[in-house]
Amino acid sequence: MEEKNRSTFGTKFGAVMALAGSAVGLGNIWKFPYICGIHGGGAFLIVYMIFVVFIGFSVMLTEFILGRRGQKNALGVFKVLAPGTKWHYFAALTILGTLVILSFYGTIAGWTINYINLFITNSFKGDSPEQYVSAFKNFVSDPVEPVLWQVGFAALTGAVIVGGVKKGIERVSKILMPFLFILVLILGIRACTLPGGVNGLKFLFVPDFSKLDGYAVLAALGHAFFSLSIGMGILLTYASYIDKKENLSNMAFQVCVADTMVAVLAGIAIFPAVFSFGMNPTEGPGLIFLTLPQVFGKMSLGALWGTLFFVLITFAALTSAISLMEVLVAFVMEEMHMERKAATAVTVIIVAIIGTFTTLSFGPLSGVKIFGMSIFDFCDYFASNIILPVGGMFVCYFAGWKMKKSDLYDEVSNSGKFKIVFFEVYLFVIRYIAPVCIFFILIKGLGLI
Ligand code: PHE
Repeated sequence: MEEKNRSTFGTKFGAVMALAGSAVGLGNIWKFPYICGIHGGGAFLIVYMIFVVFIGFSVMLTEFILGRRGQKNALGVFKVLAPGTKWHYFAALTILGTLVILSFYGTIAGWTINYINLFITNSFKGDSPEQYVSAFKNFVSDPVEPVLWQVGFAALTGAVIVGGVKKGIERVSKILMPFLFILVLILGIRACTLPGGVNGLKFLFVPDFSKLDGYAVLAALGHAFFSLSIGMGILLTYASYIDKKENLSNMAFQVCVADTMVAVLAGIAIFPAVFSFGMNPTEGPGLIFLTLPQVFGKMSLGALWGTLFFVLITFAALTSAISLMEVLVAFVMEEMHMERKAATAVTVIIVAIIGTFTTLSFGPLSGVKIFGMSIFDFCDYFASNIILPVGGMFVCYFAGWKMKKSDLYDEVSNSGKFKIVFFEVYLFVIRYIAPVCIFFILIKGLGLI
C-alpha cells in the first residue's frame, strides 16, 4: 500500500539531474581543487579517477539497485531486503554521516553566500593581496556572521525540501544543473587564456607520483566517495524514487561522468588562474576563497566573474545539501510517522545547531581539538575518509554476499529487459575488489599498517 503512495521523479532527465545534483557540489568545486593541490596535482587526479571508475561506479550502481528494489530509505531498505537481521543498523552510519557532512557543508556554503554578497557589492575593488587574505581570515573567525550565513543555508535547503520530491528537488535541480555546467565551462575557458595559465594545466595533468603516500591514496578514495555521494545511502534513498522503467546502469554511468567532468573543469578553472597570478596551490580549504577573489580582481569584469562563480558554487552546494537533508527528512517521516513540514523543521534546527560548532571552529572554538584536528577538519576527515568508505564496504558486502544474484540481476536489468553484459564483472568488483581495496586503503591511510 505504501509503495503506491511513494512519489517518484517525474522524468528521466529530472531524475538524472537530481542525482547529478547530489553528486556535483562543494566536493567538486571547493574540495577537489584544494586536496588535489595538497597532494601534488596530476598524480592525485589519476588515482582519484581510478577509484571513480573501478570502485565508485559499482558502489553507486549497488545503491541504485538496493534503493529501487526496496523502495525505502537507507533504514527501511534493509528491513525489506533482509527482514529479521541487523543490517538496518547501517542507517546509524547514514544518519551520523549525513549530520556530520551537513554541518561542515553548511559552513562552506555559508562562506560562498557571503562571497556572492561581497562580489555583488564590489567590496574587493582595488584591494591588495594582504587585504584579500585578511578579509577572509576576519570573516571566517567572526563569531556571528558566518554562523548566520550557515543557518540561512540550512533554512534555504529545508525550504526546497518542503516542496517534496517532484515539486522541490526535481524542479530546482532541473534548472540549476545545466546552468552550472555552462558556468564552469565558461570559467575554465577564461582561466586557460590567462598568461602563464599553462603551468596550472601542467600541475593538474602531469603526474608527480613522489607526492603519493598512503594518506594521499586514502584521501583520493574518501574523496571519490564524497564527491559521488556514495557510501551512506544517499543515492540509495534517491534511487527509491527512480521509475521502474529506467536503466540504472546507464544512469550511474551518466552521474559518474558528469561528476568527474565538473571536478576536472573546476580544476581547469582554478589552477591556471592560481599559477598565472603566482599563488600557492597547496593553500588548503581556503584555496578558492583566498586566491580566486584576487584572480577575479585582476580580470576585467572581475566582479561579474566573481559573482557568477560564487553563485555557481552555492547552487551546487544547495542541490547536494538537499540530497543530504532529504535522507534525514525521509528517515524522520517514514520511521517516526511525521508530516514532511514538521520533519523538515526538526531536521533544519538540528543541522543548524551542529553546524554552528563547525563554523565556530574557525573562530572562537579554534582551540578545540579532536585527535589533533579542529572540529571542522575532524568532521571532514571522519566523514569522508572513514564513514563513507566503511559504508561503501557494507553496501558491497550486503549486495554481493547477502542478496540473491538473481535478484540483483533482475533489478539492474529491469526483469531481463536490458542485457547487462558486464554483470559478472560488476559482481566480482562488489564481492571482492571493492571491499578488499577499501579495507587495505583504510588501514594503510590510518597508519595501522
Ligand atoms: N557529493 C557532494 C559534493 O561533492 C557531497 C555529498 C557527500 C553529498 C555525500 C551527499 C553525500 O559536494
